Amino acid sequence: MSDRTLKLTDQRSGKTIDLPLVKGTLGPPGIGVGHIYRELGAFSYDPGFLSTASCQSNITYIDGEQGILLYRGYPIEQLAAQSTFIEVAYLLLYGELPTAAQLEDFRRLILHHTMINETLKRFFTGFYHDAHPMAVMVGVVGSLSAFYHDSTDIANPKHREISAHRLIAKVPTIAAGCYKLNMGEPMMYPQNHLSYCGNFLHMMFAVPCEDYEVDPLAERALDILFMLHADHEQNASTATVRQAGSSGADPFACIAAGIASLWGPAHGGANEAVLKMLEEIGDVRAIPRYIARAKDRDDPYRLMGFGHRVYKNYDPRARIIRSICHEVLESRGGSDPLFELALRLEEIALNDEYFIERKLYPNVDFYSGIIYRALGVPVNMFTVMFAIARTVGWVAHWLEMMADPDQKIGRPRQIYTGPAQRDYVPLEKRTASD
Ligand code: ACO
Repeated sequence: MSDRTLKLTDQRSGKTIDLPLVKGTLGPPGIGVGHIYRELGAFSYDPGFLSTASCQSNITYIDGEQGILLYRGYPIEQLAAQSTFIEVAYLLLYGELPTAAQLEDFRRLILHHTMINETLKRFFTGFYHDAHPMAVMVGVVGSLSAFYHDSTDIANPKHREISAHRLIAKVPTIAAGCYKLNMGEPMMYPQNHLSYCGNFLHMMFAVPCEDYEVDPLAERALDILFMLHADHEQNASTATVRQAGSSGADPFACIAAGIASLWGPAHGGANEAVLKMLEEIGDVRAIPRYIARAKDRDDPYRLMGFGHRVYKNYDPRARIIRSICHEVLESRGGSDPLFELALRLEEIALNDEYFIERKLYPNVDFYSGIIYRALGVPVNMFTVMFAIARTVGWVAHWLEMMADPDQKIGRPRQIYTGPAQRDYVPLEKRTASD
C-alpha cells in the first residue's frame, strides 16, 4: 500500500472519498476501489479488465510498452538462452532458481508422476477418433480429480503441492494421448530417462514396433517454446483458473477450466488460427488483400497472431521464436514457404499506418505454429502444446492464490440493463408485445 491516495467525488451528493493506491515493486499502482460501493453506492465498471488489476502476484511481470517479460524477476531472454523448462517450472512454483540438488530432486519428482492411471486411458476410447485434441484435454484433465482424490484437500499445502506436481507431469502424457487418438496409434508410456520435452516427443512420435531417438534440436526448440509459454500473468486462462479456484474447486477442475479458456482464437487458439490464415493467404501476392480486410471496419477479419492486450511493442517471445524458426527450418534442410509468407506479412503490416497507429505487433503465436509444423506437430495440436507449457503458470498462480490468507471468492458485480420489475402475465392474457 502506498501513502499516496486519490480522491473520488460524487458531484451529485458532493461526497468525496479517498482511494488508496496499491503499489507493487514494478509497474503502475492499482487504485483500491473495494469500498466505493459501500461509500458511494456505485460499482467500478471495466468490461474486459482494461484498467483493472484483479490480484497481487509476485510471479510474472510484463511491461507491455517496453516489451519486457520477467519470471520472478528474470528476463525471458536470459531464461530462454540459459535455462530449461523444468528449471523454469521450479522457479515459477517456488520463487527462486533451484540449486543443482533441488533441480535434480524436482526433475525426478515430476518424472515419477508422468504415468496416468490405466483406467484413465479408457477415457480416450470414449471419444470419436477425430475429436479435437483440446476438447479431449478439457475432458480428460478435468477427470483427474476423480482419480487423484488423495491429494485434493485444498486446505492442506502438501496436497496442493502434490496436485501441482501431478498436473505438470501428467498433462504432457494426456496431450500425447490426444494425438495418438487422432492417429489411431497406441499410447506410449513415458520414459523416465528422458528429459521433460524429450519424453513428450517420445510419447508423441514413437510407436511400439520401432526404436525412437529424440532429436536434440527438436528437444531444445520445444524446451524454449515451453519456457516462453510457461506464464504470462493474468491472461484470460490464468484469470479463469484463479476464478474457478476462488470458490475452492479442486485443482484438476481449475486447470481444465483454464484449458477451456485457452482454446479460444483470441487467446491460445491463435497459433492454430495463424497457420490456417497463412495457408489461406497462400501466396505473397495475396497479402495486400488480407491486410485490406483486416483494416476494414465492416469486416470482422483480423490478422491472427497480431496485436496483444498488454504488449504495445514487439512481443519479446515472438522475437525469440522468430530466431529459433530459422534454426529449426535450416536443420530440416531449408525453409518453409509459410515462414517466408509470415516474414513478408510481418514486414508489410509493420510498415502499414493502421498497424503502426494501433501498435499491433506479432505476438508469441505468430511464429510458434511454424516451428511446431517443422517438428511434425499437426495444426490441431498447437493449442495443446501451449496448454502443456501454461499448466506450469496456471498451477503457480493457483498455489499463490490458495496460500493467500486474504483470498476471497471472485464474485464480480454487474450493471443490470434488463427490464425493470414487472408483474407476471398469465398465459391467456398475453399478447405478442408482452
Ligand atoms: N488485426 C487487425 N486489427 C486488429 C487486430 C488484428 N489482429 N488486433 C486488434 N486490432 C485493432 C482492432 O480492430 C481495434 O481497432 P479500432 O481501434 O479501430 O477499433 C484496435 O486494433 C484495438 O483492438 P482491441 O480488440 O480493442 O484490442 P484488445 O486488447 O481487446 O485485443 C487481441 C487483443 C484479442 C489479442 C487482438 O489484438 C486480436 O484479436 N488479435 C488476433 C488474435 C491473436 O493473435 N490472439 C493471440 C493473443 S496472444 C495470446 O493469447 C497468447
